[in-house]
Amino acid sequence: MADKSFLNEVNRRRTFAIISHPDAGKTTLTEKLLLYGGAIRLAGSVKARRAQKHAVSDWMEIEKQRGISVTSSVLQFEYNNYCVNILDTPGHQDFSEDTYRTLMAADSAVMVIDCAKGVEPQTKKLFEVCRMRGIPIFTFINKLDRAGKHPFELMEEIEKVLGIQSYPMNWPIGTDGDFKGVFDRQKHQIEVFHEKNHGQSIVESTVSDVSDPAFKDLLGESYHNQLMEEIELLDMAGDDYDLNKILKGELTPVFFGSAMTTFGVKPFLEYFLSTTNPPSGRMSNHGEISPENDNFTGFVFKIQANMNPAHRDRIAFIRICSGEFEKGMEVNHVRVNKKVRLSQPQQFLAQDRVVVEKAYPGDIIGVHDPGIFNIGDTLCQDGSKTEYEGIPMFASEHFAKVYAKDSMKRKQFLKGVTQLAEEGAIQVYRQLYIGTEELIIGVVGVLQFEVLEFRLQNEYGVEIKMQQLPYKHVRWVEMKDFDPDTFKTTTDTLIVEDDNEKPVLLFQNEWSIQRVAERNPDAVLKEISVH
Ligand code: G4P
Repeated sequence: MADKSFLNEVNRRRTFAIISHPDAGKTTLTEKLLLYGGAIRLAGSVKARRAQKHAVSDWMEIEKQRGISVTSSVLQFEYNNYCVNILDTPGHQDFSEDTYRTLMAADSAVMVIDCAKGVEPQTKKLFEVCRMRGIPIFTFINKLDRAGKHPFELMEEIEKVLGIQSYPMNWPIGTDGDFKGVFDRQKHQIEVFHEKNHGQSIVESTVSDVSDPAFKDLLGESYHNQLMEEIELLDMAGDDYDLNKILKGELTPVFFGSAMTTFGVKPFLEYFLSTTNPPSGRMSNHGEISPENDNFTGFVFKIQANMNPAHRDRIAFIRICSGEFEKGMEVNHVRVNKKVRLSQPQQFLAQDRVVVEKAYPGDIIGVHDPGIFNIGDTLCQDGSKTEYEGIPMFASEHFAKVYAKDSMKRKQFLKGVTQLAEEGAIQVYRQLYIGTEELIIGVVGVLQFEVLEFRLQNEYGVEIKMQQLPYKHVRWVEMKDFDPDTFKTTTDTLIVEDDNEKPVLLFQNEWSIQRVAERNPDAVLKEISVH
C-alpha cells in the first residue's frame, strides 16, 4: 500500500502545458505564474527568452542564429501547497512535433488567446491534440488592457472554430480600450482594473446580483447597463457551468485578464489549481495504471540531443506515471527487455540542471540517454512489462527529398537521419521500389529542415541536398491486404512507407485526400499514427 506522504505528493501535483499562438502572451503569463509561486526551478527558456530576446542557445547554434527557442522545457514551482509542473512549448511559428508530444505528458492545458486576435492557427492545432486526449482546457483571454474583439465575438469564435463549449467565469467591462475590470460571475463581485499601479481592488455586491447600485456608482450608468444586459444574456443563452464537462475537456472555463499587468492571473491560477485534476491513471497493456500504484512507471515523450554541445549527450524526458522515483534506481526498459540505472536524473532541463533525488507521478525528469531510448518507451520498476500506449506520430506538413551530397557518406547520412527520427525531430519516409540513397523527410515545422541540415553537418559530417516537395498532407493507410499496385490514387498522390513499413500517402491538397478516400472505401486514412 502506498503511504500517506506519497499519496499527498501525488495529489498535490498539477502538470499542464500552456498552448497559444506566438505573441498571445504565453511567456508573460508563465512568468506571472512563476512569480506567484516563487519558482523553485526555473528553466532557461522563459528566463532566457525574456532577458535577451535574441540569443541564448540552450543547446544549439541554430537557436542563437534565429533567436528562438527550438525545444521545450519544464518548469516547476510551489503554490498554496500545490506542486506545479508547467510544460513549456516552443512559441515560434516554426514549432515542431515536439510541441505536440509535450501535450502527451500534460494532464491539462491552459489556452492563451489574444483578445484582439481571437483563435489563431497554432492554437487551433494544439487544441486539437488536447481534445484528442480529452484533457481539461482552461482559457485565459489576454491583453484586456488593450482594445480587443467583443467578448461575445470571442466566445463565438471559441465555439465555432474550436468546437468546444465555453463558460465565462468572469466578464470584462470596457473592451474597446477603456478597460474597467471584470465581473466575477460566481462571487458576484467586480475586480477593478487600475492601470497605474497594475494592481486590482475588489468591489463586492452586497445583494449578490449584478444589478447592485454599488456597481452603478463604480462604473457609471452606461457601462453598468451594458454589463447587466450582457450578464443576463449569458445567464439565459450561454452554456451552464458543468464541472464534469470541464474535466472531460468538453467545456472550457474562460477568464478574461491581462498577463502583463498581472490582472486576473491570481484568480485564474487559484481556480485552475483547485479545479483541475491531479495526475490520473494512464492506459497500458495491463489496463489503466493508477499513479498511486507502488510500481514506478514512466514513459519517454521527448528526446533531445546536444543540450550541452560540449558533451554531445542526449536527454530522454520521462513523464512519471506511477510510483516514487529515486535517484539511481534500476528500472526495466520494457521494449528492449533490459535493466537500466537512472543514475543522473535531472529535473529541469535547460541551462541549469538540477539533480533530482526523488520525484513523483506528474513530474518530468530528464535522464542521460546513451542512444537506447525511443519516443514512447516505457520504464517500469517491477517485472510486469507494463507498456503505455504509444505516442502518436503527428501529420507532417512539409516534405523534402533529401540525400547526401557525397555518396560515400551514405552510411553516416542514414545513421544521422535514423537518430533524428528516433528523437522525433523528423519523420522519414521511403519511396517504394527506390533504395535508401534518397529519402523523403517530413516535418511539422519548416525550421526542422534547417535543424536537419545543421545537425547532419555538425554531428555526422554529412552535407545534404534537399529538394522541397509540393506535398502538404500525410495520411496513414489502414487497410487489409494493402497493395500499392492496385490502390487507387490521384495523379498527384505519392505512396511511401514509414519507418515501421506502414503504408503512407502524401497529398498535395485536401481534394485529393477526399478523392482517394472515395476510390478506396475499404481503406481508413488516418492523420495520426501511433508508434
Ligand atoms: P508568447 O510567449 O505567447 O509569444 O508572448 P509573450 O508573452 O512574449 O508576449 C508577446 C507580446 O505581448 C509582448 O510584447 C508582451 O509584453 C505583450 N503582452 C503580453 N501580455 C500582455 C497583456 O496582458 N497586455 C498587453 N498590452 N501586452 C501583453 P513585446 O512588445 O513583443 O515584448 P516586450 O517588449 O514587452 O518584451
